[in-house]
Amino acid sequence: MAGCLAACDPADDVRFAQGADGPAAVEVDLPEVVSFHEHVLPVMSEYCFDCHGADRATRKPKKNPLRLDRAEDAYAGRKGGRATIVPGRPLDSPVLARMMSRDPGKVMPPPKSGLVMTPGEIALIARWIEQGAKYDAAEDAGPAGS
Ligand code: HEC
Repeated sequence: MAGCLAACDPADDVRFAQGADGPAAVEVDLPEVVSFHEHVLPVMSEYCFDCHGADRATRKPKKNPLRLDRAEDAYAGRKGGRATIVPGRPLDSPVLARMMSRDPGKVMPPPKSGLVMTPGEIALIARWIEQGAKYDAAEDAGPAGS
């Protein structure tokens, strides 16, 4: 993958660069077909897995920890039966709403982590969800897979 999907300069107010129409309105070069392993994993590893990954000790929120590194957890119903990722429906997926939120109490990753996603990275996740949010294993990524 090219090192930079979109805006390479870490603009502090990148969040406010997003149009009201959401990430789809951002003009960036996205891969035609988004692969979990190739494209999404590096982004989620950088921004999410410190608190929503495989390490039980650091997983958040404490009461009902959320894992985003496995399909079964990401698709599972949480509060109110709502899944965190709804395959095919980015705008119904809290994951995307959290990434796009302008509310410092809601936005993910949390401001105190010092991490800020670029519009291109958010758009990439949106496209991945739109394409089915498949957690393809590296070895399944080829054309031989279904
Ligand atoms: C530094 C730790 C940290 C990082 C990094 C982080 N989160 Fe979170 N996340 C939290 C905490 C703490 C909560 C619980 C408080 C809240 O809901 O805001 C939370 C809650 C959430 C929730 C709601 C969970 C629920 O209870 O249903 C979602 C969705 C979420 N995070 C998505 C993400 C995504 C996507 C990323 C990466 C882009 C991310 N988070 C990165 C700490 C983190």
